[in-house]
Order: sequence, then structure tokens, then C-alpha cells
Amino acid sequence: MSTPLLEIIVQVFGLLIVATALAEVALNFASRLKRFSYEQNRYDVALENLEERLMTARIRRVDRDRGSQTWNGIRKFRVASKTPEGGDITSFYFEAHDGKPIPPFQPGQYLTFSINLPNKKRPEVRCYSLSDKADPHHYRVSIKRVPAPRNAPDAPPGKISNHFHDNIHEGDIIDCMAPGGDFFLDLTQRRPIVLIAGGIGLTPMVSMLNAVSERGFDREVWLFYGVRDLREQVMMDHLTEIARQNPDNFKFVMCYSGVDAADLPQDPDIQCVNERVSVALFKRILPSNNFNYYLCGPPPFMDSITHDLREWNVPDSSVHFESFGPASVAKSPKAEEVAANSDSSLTISFSKSGEEFQWDPAAGNILAFALDKDIDIPSGCRAGSCGTCVSAIKSGDIEYLKQPGNKPDDGSCLTCISVPKSNLVIDA
Ligand SMILES: Cc1cc2nc3c(=O)[nH]c(=O)nc-3n(C[C@H](O)[C@H](O)[C@H](O)COP(=O)(O)OP(=O)(O)OC[C@H]3O[C@@H](n4cnc5c(N)ncnc54)[C@H](O)[C@@H]3O)c2cc1C
Ligand code: FES
Repeated sequence: MSTPLLEIIVQVFGLLIVATALAEVALNFASRLKRFSYEQNRYDVALENLEERLMTARIRRVDRDRGSQTWNGIRKFRVASKTPEGGDITSFYFEAHDGKPIPPFQPGQYLTFSINLPNKKRPEVRCYSLSDKADPHHYRVSIKRVPAPRNAPDAPPGKISNHFHDNIHEGDIIDCMAPGGDFFLDLTQRRPIVLIAGGIGLTPMVSMLNAVSERGFDREVWLFYGVRDLREQVMMDHLTEIARQNPDNFKFVMCYSGVDAADLPQDPDIQCVNERVSVALFKRILPSNNFNYYLCGPPPFMDSITHDLREWNVPDSSVHFESFGPASVAKSPKAEEVAANSDSSLTISFSKSGEEFQWDPAAGNILAFALDKDIDIPSGCRAGSCGTCVSAIKSGDIEYLKQPGNKPDDGSCLTCISVPKSNLVIDA
């Protein structure tokens, strides 16, 4: 064999050996890569499971604390501090006067206060949403001064909101019922949410946002906050800071109904528009309608948004709302149905007032019906939680629109969440 041919054969063999070795290395590398990605996958799943278990454990602990630390009736709280937020809104921080632990709450729930005003025979009861995430040391509520209505400027301004602003100071002791309410964010779920606030309706949304933020934004959150102008907005530094730190998971849209486009604030971390909060705006900005929606604001705001969300094919089960007036319970589809199906031929007699009326299902509940007829029944939450509207039933039967938070004694009913089932005589 000639030398060049031998050299070629040797070179070919050499190349073959190198190629085989390289192929082996490549195969080895690929199998390691596969194994690594499999391990990584397993690690991710294990981490997710661990997070899930930690979350469940935390929620169980919160539920246990809520159960063991809650209280019935009135408990004394001390005003730890009072912070003006601007826009005629002041935040109040309360610590338990007895120094014992306070129960956690679900973000979105409210406190009910029983306030004794000078020269008044009975206390005034008002609810205020908790405006921060749960904290073992204090509760916070944020209260807006309520002026006389525009169409009745000579009427006295809101009694209790102004009393809080003018007469409740640091160190004062106040009577408070335990956190309650059905409007809250389920922290066990991770479905993306849209928080929709009109004016002072921001308070429960901040509580929800802060709770999600504390959990490291385990879901996408959008906040649409509607105000007339810059003087009305509150807690902006806090909200903007959360938006700045979580650009991927928190989208903040400020809606100014009374500001010209040229005067809109310029902030890279928030989107500012000069229009009202509306479903038309959601259609332009949100990636889809597939969210859970939480809304709170004045009645016309709530009415138009709930109506338009329905038109946008958002199922009722994805829409949750709180009204700071009487509307919350009556607007739930089940309650609407029960009230609408109640018998309009029934009568309600109010024994103390000596008056009898034919029931009107459109009133929605006995309390609203009575107030419309100028029958005085005290009320607080108007959602079946605080027990203020309890009235004795002298004869007849009622049907509840929802389960009462605190079931009254037999022979009494919570008028804010009931309708007549037969002719009724009520001790009012
Ligand atoms: C679940 C829930 C959560 C809430 N959360 C918050 C919250 O976080 N922050 C907040 O600020 N509020 C909140 N509210 C509203 C709050 O409970 C009170 O309703 C609000 O502060 C007004 O109470 P007030 O005593 O000041 O007004 P009220 O004394 O009840 O007066 C209400 C209005 O009636 C007018 N009025 C009084 N007398 C007359 C008359 N003779 N003729 C015509 N008009 C009259 C007053 O001028 C006022 O405009 C919440 C309500 C609910 C139900
Ligand atoms: S007003 Fe609170 S239970 Fe009826």
C-alpha cells in the first residue's frame, strides 16, 4: 500500500474516532440537559407545592386566629393615630383597649362602630371598610366627611363622618363590633382581578391590593380608580410605589372625570385618562374580560358598571360589589329574585307607629320599605351583619334574602335582609 493512501485511511479512522467521541459527548450533554430540565421541572413543581402548602397553612392559621380572637357585640378600641389623607378623608388607626390580640379579617371587610352622640338616646351605628391588609396590632379605616346633599344644601351634614373628623382624637375610646361582611377577596384563589373604585370606594380596594402585594403578587391585578380631579385622589404615593415596584403584575389606571387631557398627571408608573371609569374603558385597556371584578363606589357608578359587565358577557359569579349605601344585598341576583317574587298583596303593620301599608316588592327589603314610609328603624350595615335593624315580629313570617351574619332571637328579624312571607306586624 502506498504511503499517501495509508495516510488517508489513518486520517479517516482518526476523524471517525473523533466524530464518535464528539457524538458521545453530545449525547451525554443532551441527556444531562434533559435530566437537568426534568430536575428543574420537578424542582419547580415541588416549589409550587410548597408555596401552595405554605399558603394553605397561613390561611388556616388566619382562620383559626379569626375564630379564636373574634368577639360578640361591642369591644372597646383606642384611637392610636389619626392621619389626614387629603380629599376630606382621614385614616384612623385603632388598637384594642384590652391589649389582647385582634382577629385578622378578609381584605374588603368592614368594621361597625356604635357611636354615642351627646343628647341622643340611642347610639348611631355606621360601618367603615378596613383600608389596609390585616395587621395583628391595629385596624385602619379611612373616613370621608359627608356634606349635605347638593339638592338639600341646608340639611345637616353627615352626622358620624363629621363627628369622626371633628371630635374623635388620638387616645379616645370607641365602641366597635368585629370585622364582618361578605365582600372580600378570596386569597386562596389566583385568578387575575380587576379592582374598580369610585371616590371613597377605594378603601376596600386598598385592603385587597395590600393583601395581594404582601403575598408577592401571586396574580395579576388591575386597579381603576375614578375621581373628579387631583384634589379628590388619596393614597397616591402608596399606590404609585406599588405600581413602580410591580410593573408586570400590577397595572394602575387613574380616571379623572373633570380634568382636561393637557392637565393629566404624567407618571411613567400609572396610566392616567380623562374619562370616567367605564366598561368601554375596560374593553380598550384590559387584555380580555376574563377576570374577577371587585367594585365599590356611588350607586350610579355601581349600577352602570355591573349592568355593562353583564352586557360584556362577564358572568355574575365573577362580579363582586360593595355599596356604601343600602344597595349591596338587594343587588345580588338571588336577593333580587327573592324580593321580586315576594307577594305584593301582603300587608305590613308597624305597631308602634300604628300604620299599615301594602307591601311593595320593589322596596327590596323591609327596612328600605319602612324608611320610605317614614317609619324609623335604626340601621348600620344594611347587609345583615351588625344587628342594628333587628325588630320584633309580633305576628307573621319573613323570608331572609341571605343568611344573617348574627342570627337574631326567635321572634325577631333583621329587617335589612328580609321580606314578608305573610301579613306581618312589626314592633316599630
Ligand atoms: C359596608 C359599608 C362600608 C363603608 N365604608 C366606608 C368607608 O370606608 N369610608 C367612608 O367614608 N364611608 C364608608 N361607608 C359609609 C358610612 O358608613 C356612612 O354611611 C357615611 O360616613 C355617612 O354617614 P354619616 O353619619 O356621616 O351621614 P348621615 O348622618 O347618615 O347622613 C347621610 C346624608 O344624609 C344627609 N341628611 C341628613 N339629614 C338630612 C335631611 N333632613 N334631609 C336631607 N338630607 C339629610 C346628610 O347631609 C348626608 O349627606 C361605608 C358604608 C357601608 C355600609
Ligand atoms: S343594618 Fe346591620 S344587620 Fe341590618
